[in-house]
Amino acid sequence: MNLLTIFDLKKDDIDSLLDRAASLKERHKKGIPHRPLLGKVLGLIFEKSSTRTRVSFETAMYQLGGNAIFLSQKDSQIGRGEPIKDTARVMSRYVDGVVIRTFGHEIIEEFASYATAPVINGLTDLHHPCQVLADVLTIVEKKGGYGGLKVSWIGDGNNMANSWIDAAGLLGFELTLACPDGYFPDPAVLSRAKALNPNIRLTQGVDEAAAGSDVLNTDVWASMGQEEEKDKRAKAFKGYQINSRVLGLAKKDAMVLHCLPAHREEEITAEVLEGANSAVWDQAENRLHIQKAILERLMSEAT
Ligand code: CP
Ligand code: NVA
Repeated sequence: MNLLTIFDLKKDDIDSLLDRAASLKERHKKGIPHRPLLGKVLGLIFEKSSTRTRVSFETAMYQLGGNAIFLSQKDSQIGRGEPIKDTARVMSRYVDGVVIRTFGHEIIEEFASYATAPVINGLTDLHHPCQVLADVLTIVEKKGGYGGLKVSWIGDGNNMANSWIDAAGLLGFELTLACPDGYFPDPAVLSRAKALNPNIRLTQGVDEAAAGSDVLNTDVWASMGQEEEKDKRAKAFKGYQINSRVLGLAKKDAMVLHCLPAHREEEITAEVLEGANSAVWDQAENRLHIQKAILERLMSEAT
């Protein structure tokens, strides 16, 4: 089994991963060792930078009793042009699972179609499923569940927005995305999810999205690979910011999420990021716990 998008899972799978992550988190906090992946090796192939994804996956493997091998763009032969399909078949002969962070989503799809080891998406231009699963875990911890919640996305219709749309499609919570013209989420992702959940809405109005929201969510205006569009995007996204005024439109106990890294005073103000409604540090921590549940499931299954 692979995890390339949240749609690789069913609602029940997500619920059981959330439960498992919560129990692995509790066990870890109590210092109880749990090493089901003893002797297993996870390969990480990263063509973009990372702090959270790399460190949380490597730590997850060590805590589960296994090991991890990290390859940046300059470490592997991919950077020198070795085909993805060859790399996938060779890596599968060594390791028991692979996490990939890359550009086009078709690259990870090609890798997965040739790999025999399970493949996990550590971020592509189209999706970031592990982050959104960690975000949902954070919501469940703080709100007691995701049912009946109004979640808002303010900013770019990017990889994070697409994975949020997938999550809303499968889990059924209300999701309103406020994105500027020209920066809407992927239409195919949107229509697949909307077919399951009509309460996924797209608007250009930040206030409309934020009003009465339980969870306010944003991400950078320019993602990795879009560095040359930075100035153009800064103009297009002006006003698409979570600040104290926008937070004031949401419910009093609204939770603010940001996958990080954050650009203070661009998509979010320092005041809100550091404020009482922000759950960003718990959200970052939860990458570790949800990914332990994912690795345990995918890599134990593969034996
Ligand atoms: N949120 C996230 O994926 O962070 P990194 O880019 O540091 O991995
Ligand atoms: N949308 C961002 C997320 C970083 C974790 C990017 O792709 O750069």
